[in-house]
Amino acid sequence: MGRAARVLLTGVRGKTGDPLARLLSAREDVEVWGGSSDPTTVTVPGVRPTAFSWDEPAGWRAATEGVDALYLVRPDRADAPELVSSLLEATAPATRVVLLSEQDADHTGPDGWAPRVERAVRASERDWTILRPSWFMQVFTDPRFYGGRLAESGELPYSSGGRSVAWIDTGDIAAVAERALLEEGHTGQVHEITGPEALSLPRTAALLADALGAPVAHRETTVEDELAGTDGFERELTRVTFERVHAGSFATVTDTVARVTGRPARGLAEFLAATDLA
Ligand SMILES: NC(=O)c1ccc[n+]([C@@H]2O[C@H](COP(=O)([O-])OP(=O)(O)OC[C@H]3O[C@@H](n4cnc5c(N)ncnc54)[C@H](OP(=O)(O)O)[C@@H]3O)[C@@H](O)[C@H]2O)c1
Repeated sequence: MGRAARVLLTGVRGKTGDPLARLLSAREDVEVWGGSSDPTTVTVPGVRPTAFSWDEPAGWRAATEGVDALYLVRPDRADAPELVSSLLEATAPATRVVLLSEQDADHTGPDGWAPRVERAVRASERDWTILRPSWFMQVFTDPRFYGGRLAESGELPYSSGGRSVAWIDTGDIAAVAERALLEEGHTGQVHEITGPEALSLPRTAALLADALGAPVAHRETTVEDELAGTDGFERELTRVTFERVHAGSFATVTDTVARVTGRPARGLAEFLAATDLA
């Protein structure tokens, strides 16, 4: 056997980076470098904590040293297109790149921010694959979103415009990313990744209530409500995200997980049954 493939994950402690690090570190043929702006937070066994910050380009060469493949968690900031271009310039030309983008990234037209980030990857002359996932199921557990608040509040505030969302388990995104990073056949592919079914928000709340054993009701909010407390780029990104929810962008269901991994995507009920929501 040849030497292990070295893979750098930016955003290793995030919602997709963490499950991907676990999948990759279980393999003997992969050496996993886990990038974080605070490497002391990188605690997955078998993962090498690696200093990586979008604010410190001086560290990028060391973080990408000898790396065969790069899992790139898009930084949600206005200068992401330029940052991604610069990072890829700092990587060896043979590096394979898998970008985490988002479903219906083209919604804002070719000059929108999300397509420009993707274009930075396409233009890099590296082998690339783009992942376009739907909303993550893990927003229900991440304390930066709804995590820990649902049972107490008894409600799921969300501006759906009456549309459904095909929630995706980030474990399934990670399983697709693993293949794209290590197997042939994904170069130049755009994988739109969703859960197995589009769920209305009332149905989503009902599944959360079942899992918690406590009442949870969907409360329809306005996009303005969702923007409260945000400003600048975050405000614009949030506005465009809910515009896409209202346009039904996240209601499209794809078979990507099954096609790429050979097993079906996990549904929300199944995810919740295996998850501690408290
Ligand atoms: N959330 C969704 O439903 C969704 C859906 C589609 C696409 N996306 C896209 O996916 C990308 C990642 O978004 P995300 O929301 O899933 O973020 P995330 O990957 O969970 O976190 C992003 C980064 O925030 C930092 N961070 C700060 N506090 C943290 C904490 N308490 N726990 C974990 N990480 C923390 C970490 O970087 P450091 O370690 O360097 O601090 C982490 O890598 C974004 O480009 C987003 O637009 C998200």
